[in-house]
Amino acid sequence: MECEKTVKDSYTEQVQILSQGALNGYARLFGGQLMQWIDVVAAVAARRHCGKNVTTAAVDHLTFEGPAHANDTVLLCAFLTYTGRTSMEVCVRTYVEKLNGERQLINTAYLIMVALDEQERPSPVPGLRLCSEEERVRWEEAKERKRFRQSRLQTEKPCARGQ
Ligand SMILES: CC(C)(COP(=O)(O)OP(=O)(O)OC[C@H]1O[C@@H](n2cnc3c(N)ncnc32)[C@H](O)[C@@H]1OP(=O)(O)O)[C@@H](O)C(=O)NCCC(=O)NCCS
Repeated sequence: MECEKTVKDSYTEQVQILSQGALNGYARLFGGQLMQWIDVVAAVAARRHCGKNVTTAAVDHLTFEGPAHANDTVLLCAFLTYTGRTSMEVCVRTYVEKLNGERQLINTAYLIMVALDEQERPSPVPGLRLCSEEERVRWEEAKERKRFRQSRLQTEKPCARGQ
């Protein structure tokens, strides 16, 4: 096991001002554009944690909780919640930041990123050193999501697994 790292060590933010190319026909943020930004900011947080290339294995959960509109400031915050042997769960919270600094949550997503070696095989990641009660709660919640994913994979029909 490599040396443990803290959540703070890999915390990553990305900021956007919404312009035409990121909007849908209703002048709201296009969901697919936001998903791309989420994937990138999660990948950077995971890379910072493990110091290796990573790939997205799964998006466990993604909820749109509110809209964003043209010219809004959109802030994405990515942080690790859990590490396995070669995988990391990253939570990405997206906010609209008003001009007075107030933040409104518009999306929450959990992604599973896997570290890769030079041959693009899964590669071990450092453990996560938990420094607060909040981080310990998030870790337990992530373990529960992992258990749920594994039991779902076992019960899924073969065609849902692409067989
Ligand atoms: C992700 C990937 C590297 C896993 O490879 P694999 O041969 O299944 O490797 P393993 O079975 O050893 O799994 C490696 C880790 O990934 C996790 N994992 C694999 N598939 C997963 C899934 N569908 N959901 C969540 N975690 C998953 C495993 O739990 C394991 O975690 P751990 O080491 O922390 O216990 C491989 O499936 C892959 O390359 N997928 C395509 C990824 C991609 O191209 N993403 C971009 C999408 S466009």
